[in-house]
Amino acid sequence: MNQPAPANPIDQNLTGLIGKPIDRIDGRLKVTGQAPYAYEVQDGARPAYGYLLEASIAKGRIASIDAGAAERAPGVILVMTHRNAPKQAPFGPLDAPDRFARSKPQLADNLIQYYGEPVAFVVAETFEQARAASRLISVAYAVEKGEYELKAGLAKAVTPKGEGDRSPDTDVGNFDQAFADAPVKVDVTYTTPVHIHAQMEPHASLAYWKDGRVHIHCSSQLLESAQKCVANTLQIPASKVRIVSRYIGGGFGGKLPIYGDTLLAAMASRQLNRPVKTALTRQQMFHVTTHRSGTVQHLQLGATRDGVLTAVGHESWSHSARFDNFFESAASQTRSLYAGANRKTRHRSVALDLPVADSTRAPGEAVGMLAVECAMDELAYKLGMDPVELRIRNEPALHPEKNIPYSTRHLVACMQEGARRFGWSKRQATPGGMRDGRWLVGMGMAAAIRGNLLRPSKCHVRLDGSGMLTAKMSMTDIGTGSYTVFSQIAAEMLGLPIERVIMQLGDSDFPETAGSGGSFGAASAGSALFDACTNLRAKLARAAGLDPAQAVFSNGQVSAGGKSISLASIAGALGMEAEGEIKPGEMEKKFSQQAYGAHFAEVAVDMDSGEIRVRRMLGVFAAGRILNMKTATSQVLGGMIWGIGNALTEEAVIDPRFGFFVNHDLAEYHVPVHADVPAIEAVFLPEVDDKTNPLKIKGVGELGISGAGAAVANAVFNACGVRIRDYPLTLDKVLAGLPIAA
Ligand code: MOS
Repeated sequence: MNQPAPANPIDQNLTGLIGKPIDRIDGRLKVTGQAPYAYEVQDGARPAYGYLLEASIAKGRIASIDAGAAERAPGVILVMTHRNAPKQAPFGPLDAPDRFARSKPQLADNLIQYYGEPVAFVVAETFEQARAASRLISVAYAVEKGEYELKAGLAKAVTPKGEGDRSPDTDVGNFDQAFADAPVKVDVTYTTPVHIHAQMEPHASLAYWKDGRVHIHCSSQLLESAQKCVANTLQIPASKVRIVSRYIGGGFGGKLPIYGDTLLAAMASRQLNRPVKTALTRQQMFHVTTHRSGTVQHLQLGATRDGVLTAVGHESWSHSARFDNFFESAASQTRSLYAGANRKTRHRSVALDLPVADSTRAPGEAVGMLAVECAMDELAYKLGMDPVELRIRNEPALHPEKNIPYSTRHLVACMQEGARRFGWSKRQATPGGMRDGRWLVGMGMAAAIRGNLLRPSKCHVRLDGSGMLTAKMSMTDIGTGSYTVFSQIAAEMLGLPIERVIMQLGDSDFPETAGSGGSFGAASAGSALFDACTNLRAKLARAAGLDPAQAVFSNGQVSAGGKSISLASIAGALGMEAEGEIKPGEMEKKFSQQAYGAHFAEVAVDMDSGEIRVRRMLGVFAAGRILNMKTATSQVLGGMIWGIGNALTEEAVIDPRFGFFVNHDLAEYHVPVHADVPAIEAVFLPEVDDKTNPLKIKGVGELGISGAGAAVANAVFNACGVRIRDYPLTLDKVLAGLPIAA
């Protein structure tokens, strides 16, 4: 977008569908088991089933591999190893503009670069036969010593490559001098562990070839990236690859890339001339797919005694697979969050022999806010100032590093409304001030911020002679509600009942979109849809002999100048089609765009055991226009619940000897369950942002997690006076800080 969005039919909302908390249109299909996920799809002939065998070392070489017994096992059709795998393009290139489209060869050589790297793919008549046979493969390894610990590798950290908002370093003013001179300082280091995505639906793929083209049903957030990854790896044109992901049981960034399951199913299917279906087990998901890197974050805040920030420093270290180049941009949000004349941010990367670290819900902010928002709490405590007041005092008028205005920024309003609703005035400033029997009760708060993005997307719409509107996009619905909010947009634009809209998503044969990721999905694909509907409206009006500028679309009719004509009759037997498109432009450069919010948490800490229970949580958000209050609320509530996990329980524990995640299942990697989730509420303040996109919306998917865990951690400090800077806040760490009762 190059200009602010003008007034449009979405603003008018004649039908009232925009913002309406309607149920998911795919909800019934999902709860009745009729929405087929990748592993459940039946398409083509009866498939053979693949099972992926993982390396049981983290670094070294396969010295020998004997698949004879597996090949002779019941039902086995094929055992693919590096000795007989088809030739593929080499990994990379590392500097590809879309890293998820890079070539990712499987079983290409005898090199092992991380624990869980596929070493064989067994295909049999059933999944169980393939899995049983995989146990008969004997692999001898030449093991090499690897490096697996971020903290041990800090001395070897390098500056990663990145541009724009992902540039590793920024400097404004003279940070060192200002920090040295500051009368009040916080100088602390926070650490966050590896997080995993824990999607409900495991990664799964069904591949078959037809007329030289491979059709792949898999669980992917970004269909074009998946398509290009398969094409690049197999060295075939992208037009020979079709990716279908109609229903996806959670993505969270873990389905931005595709993995061995998809590529091996495609290769085995070509070789066997038969559909091949496979899925990762829950345990395999930990190593075969990506995770969120651990971080070490050094926060230096300098302020006047009145709480005016004069120095803001945030340095972050994260790890990357040795052969990859992703880094966690944990200090990025600190560039725009608060005012302060002297600033410094740094990102450094440590190469480790671990699986690939990549995006996990709100990459950057999710863990960055766990550090910076607790450091702000520490500063407020040192100053003897209310944490909300400290943040209000440092509210910037312009982006403090770029000196450009914000598109909209209602952080202060979110904090004030949240404080009012939560009863923040009852908080005791001194830790330990509130008791409930043996429970020490405390309240904490933190800001929420998540960058807003717009990505190129296209859309095709068609109105047929029966008055049904069909929209097609390669966009995905990863559980966020894409089908629903896009149906609301299309129905509102054309003045049709929502039942008259057929929303077709999740097929790479449909017009190219940015897909789901980075909270840009609704804005990007939604704006392409908006544009297509705008074009269709103009065509329909002109065909009816009406002035498009005057035409009003409602109840399946278009009206102007006292004349009304049904859309179905205009479309006629041939139907009427239109294309739509959105591209990012000047608005992203001229205005700093983020969604904002404020989290409030109340926790109780058992004074004897250190057990922490979250009692209440409230999030107040301002994220542009809300398309559907129910699906948007679900998004931020899910993020807040994840924040509880980040604060209290989630940690993939690395075995420093063998380089694997010890607790690689959901019994040992603890995500919050119902009993951990208290009374939780999310509220959206009214906001419309005409600088973001024609819909005037902002991304919400990753907003709820950003800052949520920090509010919980700050509440723990307020409850019991123990400041833990090493996440998660488990009870052993609480106990170590609690005063021993006499
Ligand atoms: Mo998101 S972590 O970019 O799917």
